[in-house]
Amino acid sequence: MEPIDTLSIYYEQPGTPIYVGSDILDQLADKLQEHAQTNRIAVVTNSVIRDNYGDALQNILDRIPAESIILQVPDSEEAKSWDWVSNLIGAMEQHGMDRNSTIIAFGGGVVGDMAGFTASVYKRGISFVQIPTTLLAQVDSSIGGKVAINHPMAKNLIGAFYQPRLIYIDTKLLNTLPLEDFRSGIAEIIKAGVIMDADFFAYLEKNIDELLRRQPDILRYVVEKSCRYKIDVVKKDPLEKSGLRKILNYGHTVGHALEAVSNFKLRHGEGVSIGMVVAMQLAIDLSFADASCAEKQSNLLKRAGLPTEFPDDVNVDELIDRIRLDKKGAFRFVLPSKIGAVKCDYTADGKVIYDHKLSIEQIRRALKNGVESSLRDDRDS
Ligand SMILES: NC(=O)c1ccc[n+]([C@@H]2O[C@H](COP(=O)([O-])OP(=O)(O)OC[C@H]3O[C@@H](n4cnc5c(N)ncnc54)[C@H](O)[C@@H]3O)[C@@H](O)[C@H]2O)c1
Ligand SMILES: [Zn+2]
Repeated sequence: MEPIDTLSIYYEQPGTPIYVGSDILDQLADKLQEHAQTNRIAVVTNSVIRDNYGDALQNILDRIPAESIILQVPDSEEAKSWDWVSNLIGAMEQHGMDRNSTIIAFGGGVVGDMAGFTASVYKRGISFVQIPTTLLAQVDSSIGGKVAINHPMAKNLIGAFYQPRLIYIDTKLLNTLPLEDFRSGIAEIIKAGVIMDADFFAYLEKNIDELLRRQPDILRYVVEKSCRYKIDVVKKDPLEKSGLRKILNYGHTVGHALEAVSNFKLRHGEGVSIGMVVAMQLAIDLSFADASCAEKQSNLLKRAGLPTEFPDDVNVDELIDRIRLDKKGAFRFVLPSKIGAVKCDYTADGKVIYDHKLSIEQIRRALKNGVESSLRDDRDS
């Protein structure tokens, strides 16, 4: 098996090979030895994933000539905290780990973010491997090197860019993922179609039901394709300097704010789904895109079982305040120009800008026109 690509961020380091396949755990022990040769291993996971895959994981570890421990963190955002980083470091010290040791993140975005952050600071950085087990982690959070923990003032406030040695994606692991979490990942996949590729969007329209049934070939194809979009963007703007990487934030301005005001009861992809509806409405209000784009996008989101309207208890003013807080006073949105492309502006010195600064009135109008009216229409019918 060959990697689908190699992500090279720093020229002095070897790139990160990214493998994608269905039912490929039997080759993982070999790939770990090839790309992350190590004396000791700490696998970071949680109880849910261990209940499902503990035996398979142990079989893999037994085939590697390194001392391994499995460490569990809570199955919630609570794991993305200083306390849990410190707990892991204590356990790794007791396990005798040193700078030649490896941390493997075996879980969703929470495990990947916090285990990766721990790897980036422990002994000034040790080798790190991502084995993502949620759809969101497979197509998004495991790729791109962003690792973080939360601070009481904001999510992901404490973090680093830290590339893993290996990203190993087995789509068969998604069979046990709860449906809501599976759908949450589909939001990021639909996002990729809207901002980058109309043909992929059309493929999703055609195959969404099979995808929801987790038909293995379709799932593997969609995951690989989505990874490639993210890899392409990250390669061109690894440290979010040129601005291109910002296009991945489509739907996230309102999405993040909704996640926060719901106290994280709303999943990331659910917030992003509603955020895409609002951003598309803004694009229509500004005549960047036409109304048929909104209809196509909302239809696909709905067919995927994703929300396209506000939860009942969300207040528009509270949401606007939250966006203002997140964005330090400026309202910045990535806006599509059609299905498959985003609108960009150029500064006088030729720099491309992908996120557009909007006024509070424009946002208020879009929130009312887009999400609130869809709410009214649905209630009327
Ligand atoms: N680093 C990045 O670039 C980036 C990007 C997007 C999101 N994130 C972060 O990712 C996190 C969200 O990640 P997530 O959506 O994967 O959530 P998650 O890690 O909380 O996983 C969702 C749920 O699925 C369970 N689970 C995981 N794999 C499973 C499997 N194979 N079978 C059964 N259950 C399984 C988990 O235990 C959990 O209950 C957030 O903290 C967010 O900030 C990071
Ligand atoms: Zn996201």
